[in-house]
Amino acid sequence: MCGIVGYVGKRDALSVLMKGLEHLEYRGYDSAGVACIDEKAGGLFVLKEEGKLSRLKESLKKHSVVSTVGIGHTRWATHGEPSRVNAHPHTDCKGQIALVHNGIIENYALLKEELKRRGVAFRSKTDTEIAVNLIGDYYRRKRDLVEAFRKAVGRLRGFFAFVILAGNDPDKLLVFKRSNPIVIGLGKGENFVASDVSALLPYTKNVIYLEDDEYALLTRKDVRIYNLGTGKAVKRKPAVIRWNIRQAQKGGYPHFMLKEIHEEPRILEEIITKRIDRRGNVYFDTLGRGADLRLKKIKRVFFVSCGTAYHAGLVGSYLAEQFARLPAGAEVSSEFRYRDPVLHSSDAVILITQSGETADTLAALREAKAKGAFTLAIVNVVGSTIAREANAVIYTHAGPEIGVASTKAYTAQLVTEALFTFYLAGLHQTMKRTQVSELLLALKKVPAACEKILKQSEALDRCSRKYFRHQNFLYLGRGYNFPTALEGALKLKEISYAHAHGYAAGEMKHGPIALVDHKQPVICIAPASKTYEKMISNVEEIKARGGIVIALGTEGDRRLAELADDFFPLPPTHEVFSPILAAIPLQLFAYKIAAFNGRDVDQPRNLAKSVTVE
Ligand code: AGP
Repeated sequence: MCGIVGYVGKRDALSVLMKGLEHLEYRGYDSAGVACIDEKAGGLFVLKEEGKLSRLKESLKKHSVVSTVGIGHTRWATHGEPSRVNAHPHTDCKGQIALVHNGIIENYALLKEELKRRGVAFRSKTDTEIAVNLIGDYYRRKRDLVEAFRKAVGRLRGFFAFVILAGNDPDKLLVFKRSNPIVIGLGKGENFVASDVSALLPYTKNVIYLEDDEYALLTRKDVRIYNLGTGKAVKRKPAVIRWNIRQAQKGGYPHFMLKEIHEEPRILEEIITKRIDRRGNVYFDTLGRGADLRLKKIKRVFFVSCGTAYHAGLVGSYLAEQFARLPAGAEVSSEFRYRDPVLHSSDAVILITQSGETADTLAALREAKAKGAFTLAIVNVVGSTIAREANAVIYTHAGPEIGVASTKAYTAQLVTEALFTFYLAGLHQTMKRTQVSELLLALKKVPAACEKILKQSEALDRCSRKYFRHQNFLYLGRGYNFPTALEGALKLKEISYAHAHGYAAGEMKHGPIALVDHKQPVICIAPASKTYEKMISNVEEIKARGGIVIALGTEGDRRLAELADDFFPLPPTHEVFSPILAAIPLQLFAYKIAAFNGRDVDQPRNLAKSVTVE
């Protein structure tokens, strides 16, 4: 998720661009840049800096550029680590066109080889540079920017939004949308474009939203929209925005956490699409031959991480044992790093982390490397310390997660782990092709199932209103949903400050059953699984002692619905993917309980988004 902004009009373009990027910095902050038509010197002026927007602002002070049309970008790296050369805007090899991009171009590698054969020299490691050079290459052949653009974009696969500026076609911006958001702001003698309305609101509330595979031509005077495929003009009625800037950054949601929960279906869809090729094989663009050779030889797998990421690690360890048939375990980093683990070169230590900066996980990585184990980071932040120090890295591509409570990063970790397990099983030849295909088919249905759960959130609303005054909660799960119980409890405790404990349901008789009374809701995660009957027994034991049961179960499970005080249905899915589905209602439940209690949901007390100290 990056921040894009564009302007054409009568104001000083660079001021408009920088102000717009300030409002978009929450969308990505590892580098920033601007490009504009230099009305004194002519042609394109481009300036980019690694790091926060403030560095670009400082750098701009050394230049005096007169311009009324330009584009800007603040980056969340997906391909190529954060650096000035990888920062946007990117220009084609002849410096005629500048482009800013939000999204992922899936077929960039093939196109890059084709362009290299046509003599294009690349400077960065980004997928974006392929796009601008493909457009530039057609531009030199067709001498028409729009035709060149349509031809080039028609060959790109993936999810992206672009804004393009051409040095010798100075009075227009070309805007394109496919899946990733982009919105046009309508002014008087000026027009704007941005990734979301927060960058437009200081100037206008009148906006036009592009639909997928539409492009727009913006000049000072007007905005014209076209369908990419047919080239036909499209009529679109402007909308009037009623949000303030802060509300706009949250997409109209009251909190980033709720916005990020609602982003999960799209993000999981993008991850799954990106990681499965046309032949139905799982692949990771960041894993090379070296990693494959090491992974083929491993005999044990350790998942090491903290907090929510540890719960993902537990699921990962179950997956690795079940499908790659490798002895696997999961540990919290703070224990692993100090217990002097016995490790060999035939061991793999997989570090799971959203931020890639967690001190204990970084220390665990270093301990594992020092002992000769193969280290693989599954991380969200591209170019983060853990990503750079691990022997290999896989990115989860969840986009920036602003809410301190991890939501979309967690489900992105679970999906990425499942895909990685099938990849590992392929290297160890422990799964039949038909088995993998069936599982991938089931996995591809998960995003739609998550969307369906989000549409049923009214039921959760009622349930949360019923219980938000309770101070003690117990979460129970078995097998793949034992980690779900831990994660559900962590979500609730960290944002609502209630005492919430997650347990393996089989542990009830070993202590927690003493807690059961009419004051403590027990959340039982019991979708169809091989331990379903055992979960039913747990529910009956709790009810027999006057306890309250809130059950998550597979749609249509009347038996569980009748036993429980409250029942939340989950769409049917393969057992190993049920933690992904179950996470969503538990995230919403925690969110609603915290919101009803007036908590600071996005920045809960005592917590930080990344624990960079012990
Ligand atoms: C989860 O909601 C918490 N914010 C916290 O437990 C977090 O998962 C943990 O600190 C690990 O962070 P990381 O994924 O960035 O390493």
